[in-house]
Amino acid sequence: MRLVESLTTVLTFSVLAACNPIGFSASKRFAYDGTVSDSYDFIVIGGGQAGLTLASRLSEDSNTTVLVIEAGDSGDAVKDSINIPSSTYYNSLTKSSYDWQYVTAPQTHLSNRGVSWPRGKVLGGSSAINGMYSVRPSEIEVNAWSGMIASDDNSLASMWNWDSMFAAMDKSETFTAPSESIKDMAGVQYNANSRGSSGPVHVSYPGYTFPQIGDFNEALNAAGISSNSDSASGKNWGAFVANSYINPTNWTRSYSRSAYIDPLLPRSNLNILINSVVTRILFASGSSDNLTATGVEYSANSATHTVKANKEVILSAGTIASPQILQLSGVGPRDVLESVGITVLSELPGVGQHLQDHLSTTVVWESSVDTAGSIHASGSSTATSPDFESYVNSAIAYVNASFLFGGDSGAAAFHQQVTDALESSVSSLVPSSSSEVIEGYKAIYNITANTLFPSEVGQIELLINMMFSGSISIGVAIQHPLSQGRLYINSSSPLDPPVIDPNYFSHPADITVFRQGIKVARMIGATAPLSVSLGTETSPGSNVVTDEDIEAWLLGQVGTEYHPGSTCAMLPKSQGGVVNANLQVYGLANVRVVDASVFPFSFTAHLGAPTYGLAEQAANIIRAHYNGLGNLASSSSSSGSSDSSNGSNSSKNSSNDNGAAGLSASWVSMCFVAIFTLWFAL
Ligand SMILES: Cc1cc2nc3c(=O)[nH]c(=O)nc-3n(C[C@H](O)[C@H](O)[C@H](O)COP(=O)(O)OP(=O)(O)OC[C@H]3O[C@@H](n4cnc5c(N)ncnc54)[C@H](O)[C@@H]3O)c2cc1C
Ligand SMILES: *[C@@H]1O[C@H](CO)[C@@H](O)[C@H](O)[C@H]1NC(C)=O
Ligand SMILES: *[C@@H]1O[C@H](CO)[C@@H](O)[C@H](O)[C@H]1NC(C)=O
Ligand SMILES: *[C@@H]1O[C@H](CO)[C@@H](O)[C@H](O)[C@H]1NC(C)=O
Ligand SMILES: *[C@@H]1O[C@H](CO)[C@@H](O)[C@H](O)[C@H]1NC(C)=O
Ligand SMILES: *[C@@H]1O[C@H](CO)[C@@H](O)[C@H](O)[C@H]1NC(C)=O
Ligand SMILES: *[C@@H]1O[C@H](CO)[C@@H](O)[C@H](O)[C@H]1NC(C)=O
Ligand SMILES: *[C@@H]1O[C@H](CO)[C@@H](O)[C@H](O)[C@H]1NC(C)=O
Ligand SMILES: *[C@@H]1O[C@H](CO)[C@@H](O)[C@H](O)[C@H]1NC(C)=O
Ligand SMILES: *[C@@H]1O[C@H](CO)[C@@H](O)[C@H](O)[C@H]1NC(C)=O
Repeated sequence: MRLVESLTTVLTFSVLAACNPIGFSASKRFAYDGTVSDSYDFIVIGGGQAGLTLASRLSEDSNTTVLVIEAGDSGDAVKDSINIPSSTYYNSLTKSSYDWQYVTAPQTHLSNRGVSWPRGKVLGGSSAINGMYSVRPSEIEVNAWSGMIASDDNSLASMWNWDSMFAAMDKSETFTAPSESIKDMAGVQYNANSRGSSGPVHVSYPGYTFPQIGDFNEALNAAGISSNSDSASGKNWGAFVANSYINPTNWTRSYSRSAYIDPLLPRSNLNILINSVVTRILFASGSSDNLTATGVEYSANSATHTVKANKEVILSAGTIASPQILQLSGVGPRDVLESVGITVLSELPGVGQHLQDHLSTTVVWESSVDTAGSIHASGSSTATSPDFESYVNSAIAYVNASFLFGGDSGAAAFHQQVTDALESSVSSLVPSSSSEVIEGYKAIYNITANTLFPSEVGQIELLINMMFSGSISIGVAIQHPLSQGRLYINSSSPLDPPVIDPNYFSHPADITVFRQGIKVARMIGATAPLSVSLGTETSPGSNVVTDEDIEAWLLGQVGTEYHPGSTCAMLPKSQGGVVNANLQVYGLANVRVVDASVFPFSFTAHLGAPTYGLAEQAANIIRAHYNGLGNLASSSSSSGSSDSSNGSNSSKNSSNDNGAAGLSASWVSMCFVAIFTLWFAL
């Protein structure tokens, strides 16, 4: 009997091994030991939000091999911190080994403070550690982005217009409505038709809420800021309870790994390496205006390895590491590379430039009502119930310039000041002497000043926070900074962090907008019915009264809202762009960037939703390129709720939208048939 059992075991494992020619076992999807093939069609650098989304879609085609190389661990050892939504506040992975723990360079305009910049270092990347707000940008912004690259090729630019991005964001997600009681108490409004219905990522609402969330909405209305009943449709301004990346079937976080990878059957053509840091992209020697990447070099288990790319190398290492890796590989601004002794293979001045971020801080009031913080601290049975543990902040409002400046004439005066400051800003505030980068600064400035400021689009985000015990606060965050910074390496070692210099508040208009935002937050806090739950304001507090007081206070307070982008901006090369509308890096034959670093300017959004849309659209573009498919999601028709993208279904070998692997099903069932046959034979 023992012999039979062990024989069965041996045979089962050898059959399984034979079914996994590359050595990744079915139960252990992620290779820990560097067991990889010599070459893959696509090498995706970074298994974060965009990287896993893209790798899942590309590997739907079983004739395409894909390797993901992720620097961080699987996350299995910290499952609860990732899966339980409120852990993002109470048991956060920021400041742990799952966070890169970047700190910006000392900020001249923030009293020389360095600002802490967390980023996920784990499968799922920042989507595994973030606050789960799911907020889409506005149609005005997305069409402005598309317009910025239209001069290069109008039909390619249409892949990034609102209709295309709307379709791509829809494709990524499945929306679930809240329960009636949550809906009523929090004042939730939505239009399910504007959200996806069959994608891998769950968007819903927490299973617990507070009357003060509804009160926040009513106070905003009373102050003149209307509620938005369809914020995902391209008109994202006003007050609403945002969706959260939560799977309501078991109140868990929905993120790129749980959505796009975990549900898959094993795919022999998709390998994911963890604990492996990419150190550079390798290029064939040859023409310096069209360099071909041959593969990548990475470091794992204290050894250096290389792996070849048959088709492409795709950077999905995020806003910080994607430009860093390009620079380490010899692609970037000449002065930066030469100062650390890296040979310039392809000069591209925009790599790491145009860095923009949302700054934020909070106004805090004492409160004696039940908050998530006080219930959590009580340790009661409610505190440990799954629905309560799914509570995360999500009610917000986007406030436009007209409201911030007390009406259209106040906004017009501010608008005029900003427009007048264009030339002086260009001559003193651009952190580059490259004429191309300077042109890009101007183009972004112009969009911000002349398209976004005079529109309905929000300039300030307000966010109610119920996470503390004994207080309630309203977060305030600036959405379209005129300050642009840069990121650059100051060491040739890939293991040293780059210098991150967002140049926060270098443009004085950012401080003005922010100060007005603080005043609006205070005003909302003083408005019924929310005011009933709020006691004394403890921060900034009664000593901070005048505009000058507020501005001085801000310098010591503000920190990141965690939305940095634009360091590999999709802009014309003549404007310091890094990628074209096909996401291809200028000057390189077969390298793309697919992550939050390509958005050319900041959106009124949290970057998760546009990043899923970007990665879905990237998969459409890449698959169409290699499979000769004609149909891309570049629809110019008006948007509906259905998935107008053909990417997922356009290959006979592709899987369905839920990520179940149609492609490997027959192969897997053959393996199971073999195992069961052996079992019965014994
Ligand atoms: C604390 C926090 C809270 C946030 N809150 C929200 C929110 O509530 N809602 C929202 O929409 N957005 C939020 N964001 C922003 C959002 O999560 C990010 O913008 C988005 O996830 C970025 O996706 P990405 O694919 O560009 O990068 P990431 O998801 O960060 O992925 C990059 C990946 O590359 C890996 N990597 C880096 N360098 C290397 C290397 N050399 N070799 C191999 N791998 C490498 C990283 O480990 C990481 O896994 C938050 C972000 C943070 C950090
Ligand atoms: C699908 O993949 C299988 C196995 O890789 C291959 O034999 C088959 O020809 C593919 N079919 C199509 C239509 O691509
Ligand atoms: C699969 O890819 C190989 C190598 O790129 C190619 O020769 C073959 O024709 C492809 N098969 C299909 C069905 O696409
Ligand atoms: C939550 O449910 C989904 C299915 O909807 C499942 O894939 C996932 O594993 C579950 N998560 C946990 C932690 O149980
Ligand atoms: C600036 O923006 C306006 C309005 O969006 C646009 O009409 C104009 O062409 C832009 N100018 C430049 C120089 O980009
Ligand atoms: C700005 O917002 C206010 C309040 O929501 C609204 O009444 C006003 O019409 C908006 N103005 C513009 C230009 O969108
Ligand atoms: C690089 O910059 C960091 C700060 O961002 C600094 O600590 C470090 O000393 C610098 N290294 C070199 C070699 O200049
Ligand atoms: C760059 O090289 C690739 C092959 O390596 C080729 O297909 C492509 O056409 C070239 N592009 C340019 C602009 O020369
Ligand atoms: C998707 O493909 C179908 C069938 O090939 C085609 O009829 C339809 O026009 C395509 N849709 C888009 C948006 O490209
Ligand atoms: C998508 O795939 C399904 C199932 O494989 C098929 O029935 C349907 O016709 C396909 N649609 C398109 C547009 O190819």
